[in-house]
Amino acid sequence: MFESLSALSPDPILGLSAAFKKDPNPAKIDLGVGVYKDEQGLTPILDCVSQAQQMLLASETSKVYITPQGNQGYINGMVELLLGHNSAVTSANRVAAVQAPGGCGALRILAELLVRVNKNTRVWVSDPTWANHIPLLGDAGIDLQIYPYFDKNSASIKFDEMMDCLSKVSADDVVLLHGCCHNPTGADLNKEQWQQLTALASKVGFLPFIDIAYQGFGDGIDEDAYGLRLMAENLEEVIVAASCSKNFGLYRERVGLAAIICKDQSTKDIAQSQIQSVARGIYSMPPSYGGALVDIILNNKSLNDIWISEVEAMRTRMAELRAMLVSNLEDQNVDKDFSFINKQKGMFSFLCIPPEQVQALRDQHAIYFVDSSRVNIAGINHKNVSVLAKAIAQTL
Ligand code: LMR
Repeated sequence: MFESLSALSPDPILGLSAAFKKDPNPAKIDLGVGVYKDEQGLTPILDCVSQAQQMLLASETSKVYITPQGNQGYINGMVELLLGHNSAVTSANRVAAVQAPGGCGALRILAELLVRVNKNTRVWVSDPTWANHIPLLGDAGIDLQIYPYFDKNSASIKFDEMMDCLSKVSADDVVLLHGCCHNPTGADLNKEQWQQLTALASKVGFLPFIDIAYQGFGDGIDEDAYGLRLMAENLEEVIVAASCSKNFGLYRERVGLAAIICKDQSTKDIAQSQIQSVARGIYSMPPSYGGALVDIILNNKSLNDIWISEVEAMRTRMAELRAMLVSNLEDQNVDKDFSFINKQKGMFSFLCIPPEQVQALRDQHAIYFVDSSRVNIAGINHKNVSVLAKAIAQTL
């Protein structure tokens, strides 16, 4: 039966990990998949997670199914993390939400829900966007359109072009936005730009679909939710896909949240039943483990304090690595000005070099990153930074 299909090339991001593993070069450098790494190149379990695991092990008494919407303590904790304490939309009971298997699971079930609302739903995504947005949304039947976002020549956001494009979309359209730490460019909207975009959404009527997978990695846990909170407070409807993969380091546990901010409580009840039915039709109910850990961390003061400091340590280190890369590149006297790397936020930076140079860095120096020129900043460390800067200088 399956011979009618053709074999596909490896995933543009996950395929890099496989290629990196196979490379026998001992000096190889992995700046591919978005996973936080420490100075030793390891991704240890966060201390707050280790402690929560002990607590869960001591208290869990059954492996019976959890409810279709997921762990309610987790959901409430996540909604508060995303929308803030005392959020008016939460108090007004306008938020439908389910625990989802990762940010990917959240994106997919929200896409399926949008197709239930309108099988011709158009979703506008930034140019560029995270490569996996395309299959996650497109395979659900979404009609994907692209809005201008990032100018590789100036390494900055094309805000006027973006606004111009989005001012012409239809009121039935959906606009996918990165809540913070834009993947792949690391170029985020500032507060004023979020304000203008919120006013535009209100005027045009499009539905913002906010993907927030790196909360806490940009400017701070609350600071990174600025745009999301602004839209939630000022618009009738916003949908949100959140991930705990990076900021809780729970990658393989697949923990995410799909939330729908509705115009009123009765619409929220409809949305809640529909999103649960979408999930039931795909995977029934989410896996319990990761959500149970995040529930413990968010609802236990001492673990929450540890988590906040661990997120801060990861954020600060990534900002230092950015500065270290820029200064090492300056030491190489490269013609290109890479100071924009310091302005970008979170785990990724776009080097703004062509794919041939990305390929040359892979083939000649065993340095692995995504063809778009996205590098995982957390893969840099004091040992590899000068090798990396020299290799970039030689390749430019
Ligand atoms: C990334 O962007 O590298 C991560 O989110 C991992 C993935 O699934 O692509």
